[in-house]
Amino acid sequence: MAFQERERRDAIGAPHPSRSLSVYFIAAVASIGGLLFGYDTGVISGALLFLRQSFALNATTQEIAVSAVLVGAIIGSILAGRLNDALGRKKTLLLLAVIFTVGALLTAIAPNLAFFLVCRVIVGLGIGAAASVVPVYISEIAPARLRGRLVTFNQLAITVGIAVSYWVDLAFAHAGLDWRPMFASAAIAGIALFLGMLICPESPRWLASKGRWDETRAMIEHIKGEQLEQELADIHRSLSEARQQMGVRELLTPRLRMALIVGVGLAVFQQFVGINTVIYYAPTIFQRAGFASASSAILATSVVGVANVLATIVAILLVDRVGRRKLLLGGSLIMALALVMLGIIFARNAANIGSLTLIAFIVYIVAFALSFGPVFWLMSAEIFPTRVRAIGASISSFANWTANFLVSITFLSLIGAIGAPATFWLFACFGVLAFIFSWILVPETKGRSLEQIERYWENRRHWDKAA
Ligand code: BGC
Repeated sequence: MAFQERERRDAIGAPHPSRSLSVYFIAAVASIGGLLFGYDTGVISGALLFLRQSFALNATTQEIAVSAVLVGAIIGSILAGRLNDALGRKKTLLLLAVIFTVGALLTAIAPNLAFFLVCRVIVGLGIGAAASVVPVYISEIAPARLRGRLVTFNQLAITVGIAVSYWVDLAFAHAGLDWRPMFASAAIAGIALFLGMLICPESPRWLASKGRWDETRAMIEHIKGEQLEQELADIHRSLSEARQQMGVRELLTPRLRMALIVGVGLAVFQQFVGINTVIYYAPTIFQRAGFASASSAILATSVVGVANVLATIVAILLVDRVGRRKLLLGGSLIMALALVMLGIIFARNAANIGSLTLIAFIVYIVAFALSFGPVFWLMSAEIFPTRVRAIGASISSFANWTANFLVSITFLSLIGAIGAPATFWLFACFGVLAFIFSWILVPETKGRSLEQIERYWENRRHWDKAA
């Protein structure tokens, strides 16, 4: 590198290419946020058995103990946008790492239920915020051709976090330990996220949005170096246009309203197809289906968890090749079919429906993991222009957590009121609606730069001829 260039970089504190970090590494570090999202939502299922005794929980207080984290996540998801814009992606992730770590340790020493619930809400704040901050950060550092794959790392981490939480619960339970170490273990990932983020760069697009162009240029060279001038020009153009419209209101303008509808629609459908009734209540459903002992029900659940992880790995390979739309369309139809099957299995009320139920669940989870699981979070981070990306992703995430909360708290009562078959058929209807919604409204963003996607909305949902 020329001497002057070296001096210029030193002057702005920018990294030297020799110290370049691979975008894969950066995406993997940020995805520890997803790992914590998965772990901290999954850990409660096994811990609940012990909490019940420690805090003498009844049915209602159990439900509250489970949903406290969702309440925190709803609040965290809505705070995330402003925080992410004000502090920057990197500092926000560092702050979230501190919240995860302190939250995990405090939960583990909770002396009573009230203290425990407050801690779970705090951890929830971190989860809800990380859910949109991580995809936004990765989408902004990734080259267009790898963006789907790199953002999907986060979904992989979520599924691994859920699976690991089951195993950790099982291991501590076997070792005769109670719920405290189950929650404390999350601190390890929290510390790893903090240390990893210390060496990761700030998002070039956030730097540009603050007018820090020298650093933007250095960061783009640092992490990608592909078509530097073109990319800088695109970012410049996107930021200088309509600057005066900054903020949430811009998302309501006719140009961007459709992007918001796509973000929020995908968010709601991701939950209304019933995914978390499987994630949170699978052991209960398996017991009803004939896996009588708790351990066989938990084992069947772990099989579903592993299928979720494996199918997400396949999604990573497909999302930038096959594209987002085909995955959404195929996935929603297959989920609907599997749910119809589940309804039929439960309606026939036969004696031994355990293995059929397991097969239907596996088909369902594989379809989810190939479609709405990763693609919603990915699109929520790529469909909004840089000026409003963090806010748009945060609103979509808020819709997702709220829908998650609604489905989770009504599921058991729904089964009580209309029966298991009708409940699964209801979710199947949402699968069909999700298909229609994706067919009509969701654009194919595969291989497009974030700035091209922005122009798509500006051109009334047409791609630039030149693009
Ligand atoms: C969803 C979560 C769900 C998880 C399951 C995520 O994309 O947002 O609600 O528990 O996938 O893998």
